[in-house]
Amino acid sequence: MTTDQQLAATGRLRHLITLDGLPRARIESLLDEAAHLRRLWQQQHVLPQSLAGRTVVNLFFEASTRTRTSFDLAARRLGALVVNFDIASSSTSKGESTEDTLATLEAMDADAFVVRHKENGTPAQLAAQARRAAILNAGDGNRAHPTQGLLDLLTIRDRKGRVDGLNVVICGDIRHSRVARSDVHGLRALGAASIRLCGPAPLLPDAGEFEHCSLDEDFDAALGGADVVIMLRIQRERIEDLPDLDSTGYHARYGLTASRLARAHRDALVMHPGPINRGVEIDSVVADGVQSAILDQVANGVFVRMAVLKQLLEP
Ligand code: CP
Repeated sequence: MTTDQQLAATGRLRHLITLDGLPRARIESLLDEAAHLRRLWQQQHVLPQSLAGRTVVNLFFEASTRTRTSFDLAARRLGALVVNFDIASSSTSKGESTEDTLATLEAMDADAFVVRHKENGTPAQLAAQARRAAILNAGDGNRAHPTQGLLDLLTIRDRKGRVDGLNVVICGDIRHSRVARSDVHGLRALGAASIRLCGPAPLLPDAGEFEHCSLDEDFDAALGGADVVIMLRIQRERIEDLPDLDSTGYHARYGLTASRLARAHRDALVMHPGPINRGVEIDSVVADGVQSAILDQVANGVFVRMAVLKQLLEP
């Protein structure tokens, strides 16, 4: 899926599959819209029902707590009808393909599909097939998680006042992370000064995949001068031959402890997309500490997903 396929000829958002190549102005307009909706919600807990009469289908072929729930809340709070499609009890168990499932639900006048799938490229394939409905990528394989990227940008912009010029460290299982990829695309679009990708060699991406990022196995060194530290869990569900990484040894080298965080700027922001593994990639004292924005990320997820749904579905 190219950016052109995500944007109509008018420049309007048609699908959201990736942040790769999405213009800075479009990203900023989504963040501004999310911040506006958040202000309205905080003031009166009522929002314009701009999605009344629209139907949003959550199509999650992989587990989720944050993304699925926040898409559900976002759509309902803007007045949409939401169907949380239950894959386990659906006719996929009788051999129905994902493409036929989409066509079947689209025939029932669904307006948008929020799709999470373990295979890279499934949301893009469905977007190419959809006749009228918008497709929102809620995470495909290790490729992209664009709304996570957007909510991370909003959280950084809120707490730091800007993304331009910031030094960002992303530490953990970069190789299997769709969050890392969407964060890198978004951070670069908004002008981050440097992005350091850090982790043990088997969990780092191939050299050359991220040509504008540095790769580092030494977390202590990478933290020097960091304004933002994004921690990632090891995505065991996406690793076929898991390298020999015991949790204690991993924590000793790559766990974000209070003393390790002191190597970054004293007001460095700590982030994690969740789910977090306390005592493995991050200590509780850091995850729950004053520098942590982890629950802000969760809260912002609802407003970012509202903004995306609104831009995709409003007439
Ligand atoms: N960050 C994220 O995608 O979390 P879930 O898997 O719970 O949706």
